[in-house]
Amino acid sequence: MSLSQRLARLFALITATFAASAIAGKEPAIATGKMLGDTCASCHGTRGKSFDEYMPSLAGIDRQQLVRAMRDYRADRRASVVMNRIAKGYDDREIEAIADYFSRIR
Ligand code: HEC
Repeated sequence: MSLSQRLARLFALITATFAASAIAGKEPAIATGKMLGDTCASCHGTRGKSFDEYMPSLAGIDRQQLVRAMRDYRADRRASVVMNRIAKGYDDREIEAIADYFSRIR
């Protein structure tokens, strides 16, 4: 990813985070997790409910399982066509917010 792409992504994230905390107020961790988690929908389905049998659902996933998977993808300990690149875009706090979001969906 080029520097300008990284900056554009960072800027979008900062904007989204400010927007989320301005709207939600009370529970910024959930709002941020939802914001970040919504970027997974094109593959994992709306609210993490997969529409393809070969694509894992994230809805209701065990919190630690998601955290571990994302860290393993990020560190290239677990191989994936796309998840390694995607996971590198998130720090530990963001991964935990995403895990909170998806693990609470029933
Ligand atoms: C371009 C498509 C794509 C996007 C976008 C995407 N994923 Fe994935 N993800 C996959 C595929 C494909 C797999 C399963 C196969 C693999 O490991 O390559 C997967 C697997 C996973 C797994 C492992 C699930 C399990 O049961 O072990 C997790 C966790 C995960 N993704 C989280 C996320 C999160 C969180 C996001 C958004 C930040 C995201 N993914 C965005 C394609 C995607």
